Amino acid sequence: MMNTAEQLSHSNEHWLIGKEFVELSRICDPDINLVAVPLPDAEQVIATAQALLHSNLCSDRRAVGHPDSLAEEMFGELGKVESGQPLYEAIALLIDAFSCLFDLDEVGARLARLDRAMCPRFHVDRVGVRMITTFCGSGTEWIMNEGADRRLLATTASDDPTSGFMRPGTAIQQLPTGYVALFKGELYSGNEGKGIIHRSPVPAPGEKRLVLTLDML
Ligand SMILES: [Fe+2]
Repeated sequence: MMNTAEQLSHSNEHWLIGKEFVELSRICDPDINLVAVPLPDAEQVIATAQALLHSNLCSDRRAVGHPDSLAEEMFGELGKVESGQPLYEAIALLIDAFSCLFDLDEVGARLARLDRAMCPRFHVDRVGVRMITTFCGSGTEWIMNEGADRRLLATTASDDPTSGFMRPGTAIQQLPTGYVALFKGELYSGNEGKGIIHRSPVPAPGEKRLVLTLDML
C-alpha cells in the first residue's frame, strides 16, 4: 500500500509534511525525524530540471565546500544559462537553508541522475540530518516509526514484506516530485534508535530521477 504526501494527513507525532519552506526548521524539534515541504516555485523548478535532465548541466557531480560558494562552484554553468536559472536558484536556496539551519561552514553536496534505486532496502542513515530533494522522478519512500521492527533493519529482510519487518497494516509513504525533505539520522543528538526509516524508490522503466543530497560533515 502506497500513499503520496497529498493523501497523508498533515503530520503525526514524528513527521511533518508542511506547505511552507520555513517549516523545514521543525526538524530541530526533538520528536520530529522527517520534515518535507514543496520547493518554492516547484512547478517551474521541476519543468526546468525536466528540460535540462539529459544535458551536461545536470550531470552527476559531488563536491564539498563553503555554503557561500558551493552553488557557484558546482553549478555555475547552470546559473549562467537563462533556462537553468530556476533550478540554480533552487539549489542555492537549499544549500543556504541547510547550512543556516545547522550553522554549517561546510556542506557536502551530490547531484545524481538515477535510473535505479540507490538504496533500495529500508534503512536509517548514520548521519545527523540529510537533505534530499527530488527535482525529477519519484520521491523517497519512508515508513512511520511504529510501522517497523528495527531489529530487522540491518538484515536482508527489510525489503521482504513477509519478513515481519513491517508491521501489518503499515503503509509505505512517498514524497512527491518537487519536495525537499530533511531526514534525521541516528547521529543527531538524542535521535539514536529513532532515525527515519526510508529507502530509494525504484524508478519506473525509462524513468530518470534527478536528486540533490546535502550532508553535514
Ligand atoms: Fe538513506
